[in-house]
Amino acid sequence: SECLFFEGLPMPSILTNVETLCFAREEFLVRDDDVIIVSYPRSGTHWIIEILNLIHVNGDPTWIQTVPVFLRSPWIEDAHLQKDLINRNGPRLMVSHLPVQLFPRSYFNCNAKVVYILRNPKDIITSLYHVSRGFVCKKQPENFDEFLNRFIKGDVHYGSWFDHTLGWIKKRDMGSFLLIFYEELQRDPRGSVEKICQFLGKKLKPEEIDLVIRNSSFSAMKENKMSDHFAMDGRMQKVIIAPMLRKGVSGDWKNHFTVAQSEDFDKLFQEKMSRLDPGLFPWF
Ligand code: A3P
Repeated sequence: SECLFFEGLPMPSILTNVETLCFAREEFLVRDDDVIIVSYPRSGTHWIIEILNLIHVNGDPTWIQTVPVFLRSPWIEDAHLQKDLINRNGPRLMVSHLPVQLFPRSYFNCNAKVVYILRNPKDIITSLYHVSRGFVCKKQPENFDEFLNRFIKGDVHYGSWFDHTLGWIKKRDMGSFLLIFYEELQRDPRGSVEKICQFLGKKLKPEEIDLVIRNSSFSAMKENKMSDHFAMDGRMQKVIIAPMLRKGVSGDWKNHFTVAQSEDFDKLFQEKMSRLDPGLFPWF
């Protein structure tokens, strides 16, 4: 099976194991000059990775076209790459889907930067549904309705979207935390890239920003084999036959949700997120 339970949460055993997860939380030392991309799966993580990688090299696509994405920016919870990450010198760019309660404790006492990407959960469900249908051995969802119920219950890798989002959103007032919306990135790529540059303290020329935007576009990433974690990572290859980049649009949920499913989900969203300022999310 591709599932392992850790602290009550289903975790992907393709990528991680109990020892790696324990080490990640208890012992992994986050440093002041680290930058960590954090997200719930299918939120646009790989898009942000590509953007941050490109910003690092002033927009030049050579690096992203020659090194697989998971080696450029390893996952903290990756059982194969955690050691490599520990031994890396200089500023590290890392990635994680870990919920706040499983995140390295050392982060909360240092100045490392976190970029947290959020996406309309209805589009996340839709995106994840298509990935789940590409699982080779694990039971595929019967239909969208069954999958929607599993998602709502949190019976998916990394657990409930609501818990993940609430847990991280509470940290947004920490000094070094940048909240980015997938939809905002799509609507205003330049503004978003400039915001990220400012957050990282990196100055790019306007033509370098153009390069970052062009080389991280959906079509550029779709063409770049190195950007597809599922296709490049031997472990993933064995269990998933779905493209990492599927449609890359906002609102595809409308082609999957019935009106009743959508209304029920909106109600649930309001209930679960009621403690937060409703103006925070740009979706509903
Ligand atoms: P879809 O399945 O809706 O197409 P993650 O990297 O967090 O797993 O997210 C994957 C989702 O981000 C997929 O959504 C993928 O197509 C989308 N994505 C990746 N790169 C993108 C880009 N450059 N522009 C728009 N969407 C992108």
